[in-house]
Amino acid sequence: MSQQAAPLQNRHIVLGVTGGVAAYKAAELTRLLVKAGATVDVVLTDAAAHFVGAATYQALSGRPVWTALWDDRMRNAMAHIDLTRGADALLVVPATADFIAKLVHGFADDLLSTLCLAKDCPLLVAPAMNRQMWENPATRRNIAQLASDGVTVLGPASGDQACGEVGEGRMLEAHEIFDSLLSSFQPKWLAGKKVLITAGPTFEAIDPVRGITNSSSGKMGFALARACQDAGACVTLVAGPSPQSTPMGVRRTDVTSALQMRDAVFANLKGQDIFIAVAAVADYRPAKTATQKIKKSGAKLAVDLIPNPDILAEVAALRKAPFCVGFAAESTNLAKYAEAKRKAKKLPLVVGNLVQDGLGGDTNKVTLFDATGAHPLPPADKASVAQGIVAHMAGLLKKK
Ligand code: PMT
Repeated sequence: MSQQAAPLQNRHIVLGVTGGVAAYKAAELTRLLVKAGATVDVVLTDAAAHFVGAATYQALSGRPVWTALWDDRMRNAMAHIDLTRGADALLVVPATADFIAKLVHGFADDLLSTLCLAKDCPLLVAPAMNRQMWENPATRRNIAQLASDGVTVLGPASGDQACGEVGEGRMLEAHEIFDSLLSSFQPKWLAGKKVLITAGPTFEAIDPVRGITNSSSGKMGFALARACQDAGACVTLVAGPSPQSTPMGVRRTDVTSALQMRDAVFANLKGQDIFIAVAAVADYRPAKTATQKIKKSGAKLAVDLIPNPDILAEVAALRKAPFCVGFAAESTNLAKYAEAKRKAKKLPLVVGNLVQDGLGGDTNKVTLFDATGAHPLPPADKASVAQGIVAHMAGLLKKK
């Protein structure tokens, strides 16, 4: 889930729920939306109310729940129109096969289907159904039609189903739907672009149990992968050892050492428009890795280190290099060292940060160095910092 405190402040979301077991996830989604600052109006179909009742949604949203076309709480009896006026999005979670078929044909025989027809905001649906229903040609046709009508279809995922079968049709988790909604609000600065990102630390083995690494958590690189994906890019992430979970839609390759990271970067480089090197790559590795655990003795032990290849420098030096963004992690003299790195590697953009501000934690304070000078971004959570970097980078790409 996004790390920003209230990313949906001032947003109005209408959440339609249709009748499926996955309705319990809609209750969880209501909680996430409200926690993120959104005003949430929940609309239930008759069938939905059989799974999770109105009282639950009312308690979670803190607002009345809507179930009927003829609701006299709406003074002009126009709930089917007024509820989505001024709304930022209409979500249908879960969307059953039956409701999807109704949407495709423009039925308007209850409050939710009428709202979907009368809406003037983006519509996102999260299908949930048995795998055979999902694979049925009728559903395949309906989903394709929804997509061509401009409806955003979220998922479904594959896995265990409530009916006991296993396959595609299982609804996404509430946090995944929440993240997709956030992403739908981001400007598509990088639409059509392919972006390759390195993230996390590397681990250089001394023997089978010991090695040299650093305290990069991967959070900054993963936040950038997410921000690029949200901006419409197709993102490949080459990650050193990191416990971060992969943002939805991002293709991830895990590596351990700097040499493996270099190989993975070059294996994925073809066709990339942008390369962003966020990884804290070890500058040195042991000249030899012992095949057996080194035994303790009273004597001094020296580990002979040799330099690792500089992956970013190698990529930036290519004749047809992608647009290369470097990072500079310094403990002092940020501007001087970051500028020196930008010039030495001939990079259009370097993101400078002090390790005491950005290494390991959830927040960062960065300054962007490009040919026009230094551009500090406000200190913030890494998700917001990543969005700021993407916006700046997109501006530079536009001028290119
Ligand atoms: O992972 P987090 O805990 O969220 O922390 C984020 C971060 C502090 C690691 C990140 O913001 C950051 O600054 N990453 C770059 C760290 C680094 O190695 O900086 P550097 O100044 O040593 O390297 C300069 C640039 O060359 C970097 O883009 C680096 O990825 C790249 N490099 C360095 C060495 C090498 N052998 N190959 C490289 O590609």
